[in-house]
Amino acid sequence: MAKNTHSEFSGRWTLITGGASGIGYACAQHLADLGSHLVLLDMDSTKLDQAVHSLAAKGIQAIGYSVDITNTQALENVQVALQEQGIPIRHLITAAGVLQPMHDINTLDQAVHDRVWDVNYHGTYHSCRIWGQAIAQANGGSMVTVSSITAMRPTPLLAYGPAKAALGALTSSLAVNYAPKNIRINAVAPGFTLTEALQEKFDSGQRDPSSIVDTIPMRRLAEPLEIAQAVAFLLSDQASAITGITLPVDCGWLAGASWATYQPLP
Ligand SMILES: NC(=O)c1ccc[n+]([C@@H]2O[C@H](COP(=O)([O-])OP(=O)(O)OC[C@H]3O[C@@H](n4cnc5c(N)ncnc54)[C@H](O)[C@@H]3O)[C@@H](O)[C@H]2O)c1
Repeated sequence: MAKNTHSEFSGRWTLITGGASGIGYACAQHLADLGSHLVLLDMDSTKLDQAVHSLAAKGIQAIGYSVDITNTQALENVQVALQEQGIPIRHLITAAGVLQPMHDINTLDQAVHDRVWDVNYHGTYHSCRIWGQAIAQANGGSMVTVSSITAMRPTPLLAYGPAKAALGALTSSLAVNYAPKNIRINAVAPGFTLTEALQEKFDSGQRDPSSIVDTIPMRRLAEPLEIAQAVAFLLSDQASAITGITLPVDCGWLAGASWATYQPLP
């Protein structure tokens, strides 16, 4: 059973894109602990089935839809199906996203560039549009997008960083757009977080865990649950006057980035 069925999330529906893995799944588990019912969207149907079954096994109401969030019509179809089942979405978390290999502008493959933007920006844009409308019809709620610390400092991720920065700009613009509809929207900017996606980058040699940890003042990666806890805070009434911000959750990486120019981190 859910751990706390008396929170403000109790009995409310939260829709999570990328909900089958990593940060999205940690959000699903944490929101379920707070009493929320869940709709998970993910293009990995195997992981999605596992996620929904393991939540259902704990007595949590969870529904999964296997969709690619770059398919706008498929997203619209999910909302139609939810409406037909009388499921009102009150909260949205947009965690679906893809990382990218490091490249110079002359060697970054155009298809990789475009896919990063399609998923991380356009897919999130349409998710915020479709479920913003649905949340407004349910008399309001809250939304959190998942940006990245790479939106805030230059990195060799020439598609990913700019797409995540655009997401921050979208989030603050939508905060103004949605305020009259009683919807707050904020972003979290995770630092290096030990998820399946980052582990795959370590395993393939595309990222070096020890040199990353050397740049982080707290000398460790974030856990997916730590991102989920920040997401739940921003979604909750504890953040009732907060809208349009991007909250870094990065074990101090942003603070350390400029310090390290002068001397090594202590
Ligand atoms: N892990 C990190 O260090 C880190 C840091 C900053 C930001 N982020 C962001 O956090 C989010 C989650 O990343 P993660 O590390 O948990 O990755 P993950 O791969 O573990 O989880 C992402 C999930 O999104 C799904 N997904 C990807 N593209 C999709 C699409 N087009 N349609 C539907 N589902 C799709 C994947 O199948 C997967 O289940 C991403 O937006 C990522 O950019 C991660």
